[in-house]
Amino acid sequence: MNKKINISMLMLMGFLAITSCGKKETAPTEESTEINDTTDSEGEKSAEASNTLVIEGNDQMQFNTNELRATAGQPITLTLKHVGKIPKEAMGHNLVILQEGTDEADFATKAMNAKETDYIPTSEKTSIIAHTKLLGGGEEDTIEFTIDKKGTYNFLCTFPGHFAMMKGVLIVE
Ligand code: CU
Repeated sequence: MNKKINISMLMLMGFLAITSCGKKETAPTEESTEINDTTDSEGEKSAEASNTLVIEGNDQMQFNTNELRATAGQPITLTLKHVGKIPKEAMGHNLVILQEGTDEADFATKAMNAKETDYIPTSEKTSIIAHTKLLGGGEEDTIEFTIDKKGTYNFLCTFPGHFAMMKGVLIVE
């Protein structure tokens, strides 16, 4: 808290120093106390942090985990990072989260033929909870979504041939 005051004092002094040689303006003295108020009572804001998920895909056609966990009813932020080097035309990765009860193999087959929509089958939209875009080496994408119902949701990469290796579950508790 003292640090904040010091910073705002320094800014104020700098402001006065700049303006003192020119025209005087009213210094923003009231703002500094308002900034301090927000820092004290917010130690409990970590619940959302557990819904921040990061998963990697590599040039060996693998995700670095086959299990993700999140809390129901709260926004989930998921980042997919392609940590490889191969471009997306040859080693593209995405992450598609499916509704419970979706036939994965059937979905993957339809997705494989949906090249023009980056392997997201438009006919199966109702089976998709959320999906990232298709990434090449060095790229990443972050998506945000909320799942209200607790359960186990399958996820997969729909790039042709990747489904067998690149899949897992998102457990929502
Ligand atoms: Cu893939």
